[in-house]
Amino acid sequence: MHRSCLLGRKMKSLQILLVCAEVLAIALASNSDAYPSGYGDDSGSCGEIEEKPVPLRREVYGNGRIIDITHRVTPTTPCGGFEGVGEVVSLSLSMKNGSDYNFSIMKLPVHAGTHVDAPGHMYDRYFDAGFDVDSLDLDVLNGPALLVDVPRDKNITADVMKSLNIPKGARRVLFRTLNTDRKLMFKKEFDTSYVGFMKDGAQWLVDNTDIKLVGIDYLSVAAYADLIPAHLVFLEGREIILVEGLKLDDIQPGIYDVHCLPLRLLGAEGSPIRCILIK
Ligand SMILES: *[C@@H]1O[C@H](CO)[C@@H](O)[C@H](O)[C@H]1NC(C)=O
Ligand SMILES: *[C@@H]1O[C@H](CO)[C@@H](O)[C@H](O)[C@H]1NC(C)=O
Ligand SMILES: *[C@@H]1O[C@H](CO)[C@@H](O)[C@H](O)[C@H]1NC(C)=O
Repeated sequence: MHRSCLLGRKMKSLQILLVCAEVLAIALASNSDAYPSGYGDDSGSCGEIEEKPVPLRREVYGNGRIIDITHRVTPTTPCGGFEGVGEVVSLSLSMKNGSDYNFSIMKLPVHAGTHVDAPGHMYDRYFDAGFDVDSLDLDVLNGPALLVDVPRDKNITADVMKSLNIPKGARRVLFRTLNTDRKLMFKKEFDTSYVGFMKDGAQWLVDNTDIKLVGIDYLSVAAYADLIPAHLVFLEGREIILVEGLKLDDIQPGIYDVHCLPLRLLGAEGSPIRCILIK
């Protein structure tokens, strides 16, 4: 029936073709045990499937006024120590299996993709005391922010920080680096050669600026060579919030309003976060 549908009908559109091809593929692949028989066969032919709605997937909204700087979460989303995060969302109840609704379960490392670190990430005493993502200050995570380009030939040292001339009073800075040019966030393998802060760069920021939100374009604000020391410098005072894995491609450097919202995961030292810039 699906075959005759495919062969016998003049296709009105590619969308119809895709719907039919999908149904055919499932019908051919099926030993009738994946789903109850008759699945996908509610119409008896493809003729009644007029058009398959296609969701809009956007990076900007409102004619460019709102820019999404969050990476989409997919099985190939990178995460330190993983080769992509694998299946993140899986259906535990499915209409194809006779449920009244679809209902998915999510399984995701809290430091995967675009995410935030809480002080408990690197300090056991802070973890035990409950300095989790639920305790992060939304006032730091929301407000005017500066997007700056970092020289592409170095990690972020004290000298580099000095050279950026970030004005006093700037509380939120998103650092765009070679990581963006190298499209590292689009590769599922964790790449330890990414650019990040060296310990002295982190210390310089803490000592000489008013920055409380540090955003960066790969999975860690700290260069791999100084992974722990630079994190410790940032997190010790429990005032600085680290947002990692930002999507900063194709955005003009300058001043924006940033809005970042982590999940209220009690007891978690990290969380996926949705961040947007508003012009
Ligand atoms: C539907 O049920 C079958 C048989 O129990 C199972 O193999 C399949 O994974 C289920 N599919 C979904 C989408 O839940
Ligand atoms: C999920 O729900 C839609 C209807 O909202 C249904 O058409 C579809 O078959 C369901 N998907 C699965 C895998 O059960
Ligand atoms: C930054 O440091 C990493 C080691 O953490 C190194 O592999 C990389 O080459 C450095 N990048 C630059 C641009 O110097």
